[in-house]
Amino acid sequence: MKRQDRSDVTWHYHRIERSDRERMLGHKGATVWLTGLSGSGKSTIADTASCMLHDSGVLTAVLDGDNIRHGLNRDLGFSPEDRQENIRRIGEVARLLTGIGIVNFVAFISPYRKDRDLARSIQEQDDFIEVYVDAPLEVAEQRDPKGLYAKARAGEIPSFTGISAPYEEPLAPEIHLHTEKQDPEECARQIIEALRERGIVR
Ligand code: ADX
Repeated sequence: MKRQDRSDVTWHYHRIERSDRERMLGHKGATVWLTGLSGSGKSTIADTASCMLHDSGVLTAVLDGDNIRHGLNRDLGFSPEDRQENIRRIGEVARLLTGIGIVNFVAFISPYRKDRDLARSIQEQDDFIEVYVDAPLEVAEQRDPKGLYAKARAGEIPSFTGISAPYEEPLAPEIHLHTEKQDPEECARQIIEALRERGIVR
């Protein structure tokens, strides 16, 4: 997908294209974008779906907010501007991975609709599957796997999503999971079924 947004640099075409790589791999690339509250289950579901696909010969990658913030995005905090840049960068990385033919899972809270929409807008329509990993705040807070909700309630973490910073629900996600009722395997199977229906994997 050619980018049109700059005139001072020229787009260079390379001889090995996305379709060549996808032929070699035997499946297509795509971004599965998991958005939801901290503790909603994004990372677990991405990991489970990635394992299932890997076992059937699909090249996968998982981009996880907590991990990426240790490296590529270690300079970013949790202000709206930093979260926007966090999502912009990872949206670009996801786009690159899709172009290599990789089924990439993005597990970031990505609380702002306009930031998710930007990540979607730089990919082809069929390449971007938004998954709302929905868990009521009470459920996520009760799970509190990292003890962060307790700290946020105690005022030790400012701007914590769901407590003192907003989470904007997706309006029309391709997939809407309810993790208070569905286990990670069931959620992963639902995602993989959607990938099959779209002809991304067999
Ligand atoms: S995002 O909002 O910018 O998309 P991202 O997914 O990268 O967030 O990182 C979220 C992770 O950072 C959470 O799972 C949690 O472990 C940690 N974290 C630390 N501080 C905050 C905060 N103020 N709000 C949300 N998550 C936080």
